[in-house]
Amino acid sequence: MNVEDLRQAAQRRLPRSVFDYIDGGADGEVTLRENVRAFDDIAFRPRCAVETPPPDLRTTVLGTPIAMPIILAPVGSSRMFWPRGEEVAAAVAGATGTIYCLSTLSGCRLEDVKKSTPGPAWYQLYLCGGREVASATVQRARDVGYAALILTIDTAVAGLRERDLRNGAKELLTRRVGPMLPYVGQFLSRPQWLMQFFRDGGLMNFPNVMLADGPMPYADVGLALEQSTVTWKDLGWIREIWKGPIVIKGVHTGEDARRAVDEGAAAIVVSNHGGRQLDGVRATIQVLPEVIDAVAGRVEVLLDSGIRRGGDVAKALCLGARGVLVGRAYAYGLGAAGAAGVTRAIDILKSDLIRTMKLLGVRSVAELNRSYVEMIDRR
Ligand SMILES: Cc1cc2nc3c(=O)[nH]c(=O)nc-3n(C[C@H](O)[C@H](O)[C@H](O)COP(=O)(O)O)c2cc1C
Repeated sequence: MNVEDLRQAAQRRLPRSVFDYIDGGADGEVTLRENVRAFDDIAFRPRCAVETPPPDLRTTVLGTPIAMPIILAPVGSSRMFWPRGEEVAAAVAGATGTIYCLSTLSGCRLEDVKKSTPGPAWYQLYLCGGREVASATVQRARDVGYAALILTIDTAVAGLRERDLRNGAKELLTRRVGPMLPYVGQFLSRPQWLMQFFRDGGLMNFPNVMLADGPMPYADVGLALEQSTVTWKDLGWIREIWKGPIVIKGVHTGEDARRAVDEGAAAIVVSNHGGRQLDGVRATIQVLPEVIDAVAGRVEVLLDSGIRRGGDVAKALCLGARGVLVGRAYAYGLGAAGAAGVTRAIDILKSDLIRTMKLLGVRSVAELNRSYVEMIDRR
């Protein structure tokens, strides 16, 4: 019925450490909860008794036409959720007429992912392995036709995901029986997942981070992230090798929004990484108006973090977002049932959005504006 059902289905199929990797957030998970809850503080102001033909969900993002204003966000290690997970999710995105964003921390080669979708794809860049390694990847992404490069700016270090540590994230990667033993039960209790995992080649590595001695192994990811912070200074050399549009993801304030525009970003994503990085930051939907004002129409503004229903998409659009990215909503679907699950996730959000627009009395996403929402003052 809804994304929460997909979440529970994913929980039933996936080992605890994989499910919690998707589901969890940083520290006390305050921002993770707030991202979702804050949408409840926004009320709709519908116009009733108007004709409601099937609403038009089509829009463009950076000039690319898409069938609906919902994009699949970069989600690292999707191959752990389902065999060849990134290719599977990209194929569904393309089939439904939207953009798939591929994470640097993918288990599938960026060329194979691009080939698997008939639609447009964006590449999300972390500077893992340093500038040379990242340059080579950017060139590969350019050669096979990724339409935009996303720079995620909110990962100076990986957030503290307590659930991952409790589930043995460190011990499981030692590949030594002793430390791993207390944590293997969670895999044995998910035999279907385990079988598919081994058939898909077992523990993935990162084929888009080609180090001197081959693809970056899975174990190195925490350290690699710490050493791969993107700074404003990097935009210079990146722009020399990437001539296409650059999207800055992880904007939390009007200040950074203005900075991104001044540095030449073509679009920005108001995102707190789904509450996985700095805990205690405000929900993105609360930050959106500040960013929209700061940007003053100079670039397109997208939003992610906390989208679980089509109504949330409508609220973000009313407050000025051009579109949204969804992470967990489709990752739960992928973990629950592969392509069928991702398809269902998108269907849920899309049909919610259509129904919401009809009930609001609007005929196209372009008509959504601030007059259709108000903030609820709970004081
Ligand atoms: C399991 C998981 C892995 C993620 N990996 C990445 C990543 O590799 N790069 C990135 O920029 N964002 C990553 N994100 C953040 C998403 O792109 C997006 O910002 C976030 O999921 C939005 O919040 P939502 O899950 O509430 O929709 C990840 C999110 C999840 C849930």
